[in-house]
Amino acid sequence: MRPLTPADLNPAVANVQYAVRGELAIKAEDYRGKLESKDHGLPFNRVINSNIGNPQQKGLDQPPITFSRQVAALMEYPPLIDIVKDKWPSDVIARAQELQAEIGSIGAYSHSKGVPLIRRSVAKFISDRDGFPCDPEDIFLTAGASAGVSLLLNVLITPPKTGILIPIPQYPLYTATLAQYNGVALPYHLSEPDGWSTSLDEIKAALAKADNDGITARALVIINPGNPTGSLLDVPTMEAVVRLCEEHSLVLLADEVYQTNLHSPSTHPFHSFKQVVRRLDSPIPLFSFHSTSKGVTGECGRRGGYFECTNISDEVRALLYKMVSVGLCPPLSGQVGVDCMVRPPKAGEPSYDLYKKETDTIHAALAQRTKLMAERLNALPGVSCVNSPGALYLYPKLELPDKAVEEAKRLGKSPDTLYALELLDETGICVVPGSGFGQKVGEHHYRLTCLCPGVEEYVGALEKFHNKFVQKYGGL
Ligand SMILES: Cc1ncc(COP(=O)(O)O)c(C=O)c1O
Repeated sequence: MRPLTPADLNPAVANVQYAVRGELAIKAEDYRGKLESKDHGLPFNRVINSNIGNPQQKGLDQPPITFSRQVAALMEYPPLIDIVKDKWPSDVIARAQELQAEIGSIGAYSHSKGVPLIRRSVAKFISDRDGFPCDPEDIFLTAGASAGVSLLLNVLITPPKTGILIPIPQYPLYTATLAQYNGVALPYHLSEPDGWSTSLDEIKAALAKADNDGITARALVIINPGNPTGSLLDVPTMEAVVRLCEEHSLVLLADEVYQTNLHSPSTHPFHSFKQVVRRLDSPIPLFSFHSTSKGVTGECGRRGGYFECTNISDEVRALLYKMVSVGLCPPLSGQVGVDCMVRPPKAGEPSYDLYKKETDTIHAALAQRTKLMAERLNALPGVSCVNSPGALYLYPKLELPDKAVEEAKRLGKSPDTLYALELLDETGICVVPGSGFGQKVGEHHYRLTCLCPGVEEYVGALEKFHNKFVQKYGGL
């Protein structure tokens, strides 16, 4: 029998790229293994995973929210209720009992769009957030936001030439999924000098180019707050984006998974596209994504998320329902996580004080690390860094010595990959090179997260490395 080879696979597979778990992450894992032996010979004693927005990962260790985990524990093992009845807060027990009465065992499949009670919780969360009604029938619970994005891109792409407008830099889920489904990425650049804001002119230029190339632009992706940039859209920009979608009959895909990761919410608040669309009374088709993976919940591994359909006809919604039915249902533990995220303890309830303390601590740590890292990075020669108001990332720009660029070329790597590899080799700090997210030709960036504890120590190592790197390659 002939063995299965890559040539036997769908050719689209070869085109899929996902830098967040690419060369750098693999090498970092390798180093982590080596560090377990006493005479590892490496110039550092721990790997710092600044490459991935996975808050509870080993080494990042963001603690889970107690309320969510207690409810999860009771859902996993209902007899535990009798053991903890007088020890755990009564609102935890009441929530678990309410969910158990609706779901039964979380070992069973649920409705394919998700448990109806949880979809109602999501709808209430959205209507409280936006001040506009939300129909639970418009909610689809998903295995993380990724599953929703993947489904929507899949159904929106009609080969051979469907274009999807994606921001550059972007979270590589979008380019990877487009490659998988043979969609055409229509890149539009975010404006770094304006704090990585969304430029309408850039979107219009991308639309004109698509038209010229005979590509039908079907949808526009906006990531707000941004990954990898940490940017946050203001309302006038959002309104202009909605009007542009109307003008060009574009579906809007609003990735809002970082909506609660705000470092200064009083001056930089989050506004949802759903709210803007309703306020403008706009007819644009909108899909909005949210997740339990980010925010202060950080439950990436549970795979919880949802998308909301706005201005989507019953016929299209029925087809989406058919498609999600093929996969039976999203994970029940993820659905329970969504319920806890959208229905956290309220002031006055027994779990509230601890919940508030835990979430305040996480928000404060993320804001403090982001500020400190941006300040210190901006003080380095050849580095400029937008101080991000949201999400979990910074995306500094690097000016690199010509000799470093030449050396990268010789090695067949992008210059920021060379920089990131040497950073990892010398300090154990793992970041993702900008080439994995996209950037303008000739520019160099990298993304680092604000999730790593011990920030002073590793920013110091980063500074030392940067100065040495610049010197090694002949200065700027
Ligand atoms: C912008 C953005 N969208 C979606 C996702 C996927 O998240 P999930 O774990 O919910 O699939 C991520 C994960 O990092 C992200 O950064």
